[in-house]
Amino acid sequence: MDERPIGIFDSGFGGLTVVRALLDLLPHEQLVYLGDTGRYPYGPRPADEVRRFAIELTATLVERHDVKMVVVACNTAASAALEELRARFRVPVLGVIEPGLRAAVQATRNAQVGVIGTVGTIASGSYQHLAEAMRAPVDLHCAACPGFVEFVERGELDTDQVHVLAERLLAPLRERDVDTLLLGCTHYPYLARTIADVMGREVVLVSSAEETAFDVRSVLAATGIGRPPGEPPLHRFYSSGDVGHFAEMGGRLLGREIGVAEPFVC
Ligand code: DGL
Repeated sequence: MDERPIGIFDSGFGGLTVVRALLDLLPHEQLVYLGDTGRYPYGPRPADEVRRFAIELTATLVERHDVKMVVVACNTAASAALEELRARFRVPVLGVIEPGLRAAVQATRNAQVGVIGTVGTIASGSYQHLAEAMRAPVDLHCAACPGFVEFVERGELDTDQVHVLAERLLAPLRERDVDTLLLGCTHYPYLARTIADVMGREVVLVSSAEETAFDVRSVLAATGIGRPPGEPPLHRFYSSGDVGHFAEMGGRLLGREIGVAEPFVC
């Protein structure tokens, strides 16, 4: 048993989709969340820069917050840095790409899976590489969706503007007969209504959040580092940007009070 918290990071609010799943599945665990809102979006940045940010954030979680595990709740950062983080840090480091792909492979019936993500994630080829390594029996059709993250960060989840952008960016996937669409960016579940409207109700949307939480539970069980029931857990949220905005918008997106968001610099 291990009282230490689980560390989670993302470029901004997207990783809160994973936090939500962790709160539901592992209610005794304590969480420390870093939202790098001062430097979002990661998607358009060069992979080397995102890798550097990911190393800084993981070091902050491990060295300053003494976390027992790190969840890279950002596809862009996981695409750029997951292997390196695993090599550098002694705690288990989990990503969102493998759990998401696994869930999509399970969900599809016609083996045609769309994957949407940031420019960085899609350009990295991380989903195709993993599908090949897993010998996943599916065809992946990938599309970058620049601009989606910015809408979520501003809290514009269902506006005409985001709808128009979604129509344009998702058009190539609508021609591909995909029956499953993997939301390969942790911000995108917040746009699920818009994305579902554009893709059609028969297309199943898959988020990596729940499957990632199941992976966290498996690692906690396998390594014996779960937190026992007892004192209510204490969760802490940090933002490198506007902490007031983070607490207010983060609470709305998470569906529960965040309380105070604290500032951090790497
Ligand atoms: N949530 C991040 C992801 O999953 C968004 C990256 C960004 O800031 O562009 O990729």
